[in-house]
Amino acid sequence: MTAPVDTPAPMLQLTGLCASYGAIEVLHGIDLTVPKGGLFAMLGPNGAGKSTLLRVIAGLHAVGAGTIAIDGRAVSGSQPYVLARHGVCLLPEGRGVFPNLTIADNLRLVTHLGASLSDIEARVYETFPGLGSRRRQLAGTLSGGEQQMLALARAVATEPSFLLLDELSTGLAPRVVETLYAHVVALMANGTTVLAVEQFARTVLEIAHAGAVMVTGRVVATGTPADLHDALAGLYLGAG
Ligand SMILES: Nc1ncnc2c1ncn2[C@@H]1O[C@H](COP(=O)(O)OP(=O)(O)O)[C@@H](O)[C@H]1O
Ligand SMILES: [Mg+2]
Repeated sequence: MTAPVDTPAPMLQLTGLCASYGAIEVLHGIDLTVPKGGLFAMLGPNGAGKSTLLRVIAGLHAVGAGTIAIDGRAVSGSQPYVLARHGVCLLPEGRGVFPNLTIADNLRLVTHLGASLSDIEARVYETFPGLGSRRRQLAGTLSGGEQQMLALARAVATEPSFLLLDELSTGLAPRVVETLYAHVVALMANGTTVLAVEQFARTVLEIAHAGAVMVTGRVVATGTPADLHDALAGLYLGAG
């Protein structure tokens, strides 16, 4: 008997995923496969359910129905800290930093995953030198772009295998967005798979390998960046 050919498990497999807020269902049976490696873009208008989807995947919001497998492992109902130990890291919508903590103390928050603060700081400040010179400064006194950089730096410090980005670019100048995504690309080169939610498609589609479009709780298109440009053009989402 020959051994079966070893096909790698996808990084994420969702089947019939539903989620609700109280009695109101907002994800209506999402089927989605995110392959391992590269960046998968999840696009769609405000209210489509993109943030809810990421929060469900990260274990922060309950699964109503359906299944989630990450790297071949069934994880529906797993606690967020268990998923974090498996390398799942969510950078949430808005500035994911604590404004009243210093840069160093914001980084201290990921030491529970095992690395020491000095190791984390050394790694982060090598990659993000602008943060190192201000390690005692309160995060709330940084510019919006610097705060997002700190949030991304903290995510990078956990060496995630699966990074979930929720609207990384919101409210930031194009040059800042480019810098942030350059760091994301560097992370991908080290083997991290990225699932990036964006309402506006342009920057993320330049580096995406594939993606999907969500509208009102359903996936309405999946494909290559070129396919998605076409789908988005039909939705007046400003893909260009
Ligand atoms: N905390 C909440 N309580 C009730 N409804 C919510 C809550 N958060 C989001 N929703 C609703 O769920 C739907 C999906 O929202 P969301 O996941 O934030 O979409 P997106 O990120 O695509 O803008 C929307 O209809 C929104 O109004
Ligand atoms: Mg959102």
